[in-house]
Amino acid sequence: MSIAPLPADRHGRPLGVLRLSLTGRCNLACPYCCPDDADPPDLLTLEQQVRLIRVGCGLGIHTLRLTGGEPLLSRRLLPLLQRVTEGRATPAHPLQGLRDIALTTNGVLLTEARASALWAAGLDRITISLDAVDGPLAARMAGLRGGAEAGTRLVQQVLAGLEAARAAGFDPRSGALKLNAVIQRGVNDDQLLPLVELARQRRVELRLIEYMDVGNRNGWGPEQVVPAAEMIQRIHAHWPLEALGRGIGGTARRWRFSDGHGAVAVIASISEPFCGDCNRLRVTADGQAFTCLFAATGVDLRPHLQDEHRLRQRLVALWHDRHDRYSEQRAETPPDRPHAEMAYLGG
Ligand code: GTP
Ligand code: 5AD
Ligand code: SF4
Repeated sequence: MSIAPLPADRHGRPLGVLRLSLTGRCNLACPYCCPDDADPPDLLTLEQQVRLIRVGCGLGIHTLRLTGGEPLLSRRLLPLLQRVTEGRATPAHPLQGLRDIALTTNGVLLTEARASALWAAGLDRITISLDAVDGPLAARMAGLRGGAEAGTRLVQQVLAGLEAARAAGFDPRSGALKLNAVIQRGVNDDQLLPLVELARQRRVELRLIEYMDVGNRNGWGPEQVVPAAEMIQRIHAHWPLEALGRGIGGTARRWRFSDGHGAVAVIASISEPFCGDCNRLRVTADGQAFTCLFAATGVDLRPHLQDEHRLRQRLVALWHDRHDRYSEQRAETPPDRPHAEMAYLGG
């Protein structure tokens, strides 16, 4: 197979990251995300997933992020990692182009055994979502019935998952273990400082995410967004910060704590869109390719997945035609424009 690099898209953006969703289902029901109850029919087979990643690597993909819904619900996760790791270890194999394999999870199912198995299978990084320290708020953010008790149990489970990952080898000092928190004004914005404090204590980088208008089900409104600048100001008043900036193609703008206690970051898709260097291709569990998190429809890759040459041609055409930059155009776009759902897309 030719490994000629893929030309940049219509805004000059190269392809770099494949976000592959393994399932649209989740064991939580965060109202800001609203996961699916069931998977669509015709999930990609393991062979199709491996083929997609191989071909993607030939086109410049250097980072694979496995997402959901909740990817730990997928029986495919470990076998897929094992296959990709075998490829990465084989001289002259296309998968050697893969520098980084990451997982985004809610952490609930991340037992010590699971974390060790993921490490052994070649996963490089884990990011765990935790939106509140307070029990009742954790329950509300995760859509759990059962109030304070359920929320407190959830926080304990997620923190146990974090420690299991650390013990398995995922080292937060090298960026291999991080926390994500979605901040929603009027719901969990009072958790900002407690979450930062927790992350500092645990020596893990926390990424504070502006609540996004992704999907159609979450009732998003701009008044529910806490702009990154405000989050940073509030943190800086307690723990002085120094700007580190955002890496090219990255989502997070990072800040260092002046007292040497690591870093914190913001993902400011609403107030500071980062479409200009977006290098991400998303593929859903049933093989729909999306070049933007805010697109309404994807391109069905399944008819092309039996043949590497055909798949490559389809991906080249898809990337070549790509011109989406929704977050930058948000203000001009009608509010009732349909979106695909977050859990289906994998974030
Ligand atoms: P790192 O490689 O560790 O920086 O991960 P990441 O931030 O790319 O991925 P993660 O799954 O942790 O996503 C963090 C947040 O960024 C989630 O809310 C995602 O939905 C959001 N995100 C990821 N990619 C994009 C994107 O292209 N556009 C927008 N608007 N948000 C994105
Ligand atoms: N806005 C911002 N982030 C979201 N996530 C899910 N839904 C939203 C939303 N509407 C986050 C999850 C997880 C990541 C994959 O995306 O909390 O950290
Ligand atoms: Fe599940 Fe993540 Fe969606 Fe929450 S945000 S419901 S944890 S997929």
